[in-house]
Formats: sequence, C-alpha cells, structure tokens
Amino acid sequence: MDVSWVNGSAELADKAAQVLLRLLEDKPDATIALPTGNTPLGLYHHLRALHAAGRLHCTQARFFNLDDFVGKAVDDPQSYGAFLWRHVFRPLDIKSEQVRLLRGDASDTGAECRSFDEAIADAGGLDLAILGLGANGHVAFNEPGSARDSPTREVSLTDETRHAQQGLYKRVSDVPLRGLTMGLRTIRDARQILLLVSGAAKADALQRFLARKEDMNWPVTALADHPRLHVIADKSLASRSSGSDDPRS
Ligand code: GLP
Repeated sequence: MDVSWVNGSAELADKAAQVLLRLLEDKPDATIALPTGNTPLGLYHHLRALHAAGRLHCTQARFFNLDDFVGKAVDDPQSYGAFLWRHVFRPLDIKSEQVRLLRGDASDTGAECRSFDEAIADAGGLDLAILGLGANGHVAFNEPGSARDSPTREVSLTDETRHAQQGLYKRVSDVPLRGLTMGLRTIRDARQILLLVSGAAKADALQRFLARKEDMNWPVTALADHPRLHVIADKSLASRSSGSDDPRS
C-alpha cells in the first residue's frame, strides 16, 4: 500500500489527477470507476480545468459509477448518476456510449447488478477504481458486514450513511433506504485502486484501514491487501491514524 499524505483538498485533487492522467497516457481506453461525494469534488474540478486546457484526453476511456440509490433514475438530480454527469461526464465531453452506470430505477435490481458486473468483465475488468471512504468504513455502498467477495448487489443503507447525504438531500427522511453498490469483489478485482480520504469524520475508518487488520465491520479493511493500492489522505487525519506509514514524511 502506498500512502500519500496531503495538505488540503487542492493537493489531494492534484495528486489524484496525476494518477488518472498517468493511466490515460499509458492506456487511453482505460476502464475507470468513479465515486460521488464531497471528497472527489476537488478532483473533478481539477479534471475540468485540465480538459479546458487541452491536457486531458478521455475520448476512448470507459467509465462506471460505484453506487446509486434504489428508485433513482439517472435523470433525477438526486441520483449519483446525475451527479457524475453534472460534475464529470458532461463537462469533459464524455459520450453516453463511454458510460455504464448502475441504474437505481431498474425494475429488476438483481439482474441490473449482474449485468453491471458483466459489463465490467466484458470491458476487460477495471483498470482503476477511485473510491471515497464513509465514516463507518464503507466504500461505495458496501456497509459494515459486507463480505470481501461480494458482487455488485442491492443493499440496505445505514442511518449514518443516509445522514451523510445532505449534499443531495435536504431531509434525511428523503434519502432512500436502499442502494445498489459495486461489490467489494468487483472493486478488489480492479487492477489499481485509488482511495481518497478527507474529512474529520473519516479518522477512525482510516486508522482501522492503515492497521491492515481485516474486519468485516470496517469494509474498507478488505482492500488493504490489494497489490496496487494508493491512498491519498489529508494530513489532518494523520495524528489520529496510527500505522506504519509515517505522515510526517
Ligand atoms: C457515500 C457514497 C460513497 C462515498 C461516501 C463518502 O456514502 N456512497 O461512495 O465514498 O459517501 O462521501 P464524502 O466524500 O462526501 O465524505
């Protein structure tokens, strides 16, 4: 595991963008999974600036999301799909043929999840999964208790996770009770994982992760033994996150 400690969201965004740029340089038709949430907003801002400057080329890349809310269609502004179209795909001129999103409004969610995993496999697997981190250790919507070999599936959302959605929903009671999530197995199968961590609420989850002791109650710990894992975390979380990676370096 490679850990980079950064000073604030601009540095986090810059470092994360470098990973993406390097990948696209090596492999213009790379397959990439993108997160939603506050953490990647700086990265997406940075990518838009690079695109405007003609320094980001992703006309051949293929994109997947990590999760969405059950019942929410991609044209619903409260869906994660709409978030990605708003912040990433539309501004970067990415075409709908390049994008496969988990559809929260699918009538048969089981079939939708299976077809999503098949689409990733048909695309040759994920080259890069970019992830945020939930305060309870969730990645995508893999909530505590998720098995490390879980496929993409429908899940119940915890109250904590539903409370953390105020960016998209005014009232917690409006947040759907269930979600669709890329499974931990699907994420672990990615050739490279980039985990972005910022926000004081993430300190405990980050600490558990850096301790590298797998614990189903902290789903992110299932990723710790991935052969190509890069963590970019805000330095302000370092004092509370023990582990062998020295945050002062
Ligand atoms: C949600 C998403 C996750 C995301 C997490 C962290 O629960 N399902 O994919 O990583 O929020 O969000 P934030 O970056 O806003 O803290």
